[in-house]
Amino acid sequence: MLKFIVFLLPLLLYGAPDMYKTGKNLYFSKGCNGCHGVSASGTNRYPPLAYRRKPFLMSKLKNYRAKQGTTQQSQLMIPFAMELSDKEIDALTTFLSEYNENKSNYKPDFSTRGDGGS
Ligand code: HEC
Repeated sequence: MLKFIVFLLPLLLYGAPDMYKTGKNLYFSKGCNGCHGVSASGTNRYPPLAYRRKPFLMSKLKNYRAKQGTTQQSQLMIPFAMELSDKEIDALTTFLSEYNENKSNYKPDFSTRGDGGS
């Protein structure tokens, strides 16, 4: 019994595993950076994700996962969202909405949105 308590104590003290870190790892391991950029600031015609509101990001990802997109460009995004579990979406959107990395090279590009004018 004592062993069990000693084992549980750190978990109780430090809470659940760090969602932010989990999300950050997923962002790179799932290849999101390939389109949305290493600092999630968007590249060219791919929308920026950092600092955006968690409920917005979550609903977007869940819609893509359900193969619902509003623009032609959504077709690019859907295959990447289809693989995500609820937990992964939760972690990813925590990382993106609380984005707290080196900000010096963060350059949001809001000039092209949605279907990029195609
Ligand atoms: C192949 C390129 C590509 C990859 C890889 C990719 N995305 Fe996207 N993403 C897009 C495009 C294009 C859009 C815009 C789609 C639209 O207009 O609906 C988008 C839109 C989004 C949006 C909605 C943003 C907005 O402003 O509407 C979120 C959130 C998002 N992506 C998250 C992710 C995450 C998380 C990953 C990694 C699992 C990822 N993306 C990987 C291309 C990509």
